[in-house]
Amino acid sequence: MNWRKFFIPQLERVRPYEPGLREEQAQQVAVGKPIYKLSSNESPYPPFPVALGAMTECLTTLNRYSDGSAGALKASIAAKFNVKPEQIMVGNGANELLSLLAQSCLDEHSRVAYCSPSFVVYRLSAQIANAACDEVALDAQGGFDLEALASAVGSHTKIVYVCSPNNPSGGIVRQRQFTRFIHALPRSVLVVVDMAYADFVQDPDHADPLALFDGNRPLVILRSFSKIYGLAGLRIGFGIAPEPVVQAVDKLREPFNVNTVAQVAALASLHDDSELARRRETNAGQRARLYKILDRVGLTYFHSEANFVWVHFDDPAWAFSELMKRGVIVRPFPAAGGLRIGVGSHEATLATIEALEALFCR
Ligand SMILES: Cc1ncc(COP(=O)(O)O)c(C=O)c1O
Repeated sequence: MNWRKFFIPQLERVRPYEPGLREEQAQQVAVGKPIYKLSSNESPYPPFPVALGAMTECLTTLNRYSDGSAGALKASIAAKFNVKPEQIMVGNGANELLSLLAQSCLDEHSRVAYCSPSFVVYRLSAQIANAACDEVALDAQGGFDLEALASAVGSHTKIVYVCSPNNPSGGIVRQRQFTRFIHALPRSVLVVVDMAYADFVQDPDHADPLALFDGNRPLVILRSFSKIYGLAGLRIGFGIAPEPVVQAVDKLREPFNVNTVAQVAALASLHDDSELARRRETNAGQRARLYKILDRVGLTYFHSEANFVWVHFDDPAWAFSELMKRGVIVRPFPAAGGLRIGVGSHEATLATIEALEALFCR
């Protein structure tokens, strides 16, 4: 049977998204040890207490479909960011919005540009649309090199992605750089700023693309509830975009694409600024402890504004398996020469410190 003939030819190039290892897989290697999953940039903490309450309350309504237009959530996001509800799109994770944007804009004549390494879905969604990818290197701090990225834009470029803080390096784009970049690009290019980790940022100079959002410029800002809000298992993210972009995505998305529990949890979490600030502080505290041990054992890393730290290793595969034997699951990026270590709980950081000490302080 020739199965290949059933499928669109570009699927031959696509390698499915590989999630970080799960606890059960690591437990087979680190027998009897506590396992700390630091491989998927998740929150080590449960959803916000207000979200847990709201979710529990809505369970008896699940015989009904969700609000297909996510009306209450859109209104609340719009109020928070001072945009119109019609400029909000809500997705089954920011990931779905990335896929829908690619589907809406790209075909075999298009190109996309982004820095590398970054979030793999920029490449995957372009490949599925049969578009070509232009990848440029990150800057020396692990942030998107916007000058290099602007130079990669050509007449066929339809989408340029900017990830800040960047996954997996944690570097950010600064406001002045971003403003210059936006003004340098032709209006034929859709700029998608992926800010899945923006709530962790403490640097006041982090670019705020909203300052340049006027509802007309081709600029989309994506955010996720999976990270600081601790809702990764529910799948919900949102985008701020000009109305025509929201309308295009609306044509492609599935009916009821965001489930009720996710909408209710996101709505409840959105305005709990004190819990958000507390979690940002806690993350920064654990991240600082990680820096300390990395400095002590002489490993180099990028300063991160997110909930993970990129560490350079000559042999990332070796470091990955040695950490896993000690119950610490991280994410290897062999081609890029490093590991991404998630910022976890106090106990997870302790386990990481002990594992690194065992490996490098013998
Ligand atoms: C940079 C970046 N963007 C988007 C996403 C997807 O977020 P979500 O869980 O909301 O789909 C991730 C998830 O890891 C990410 O790292």
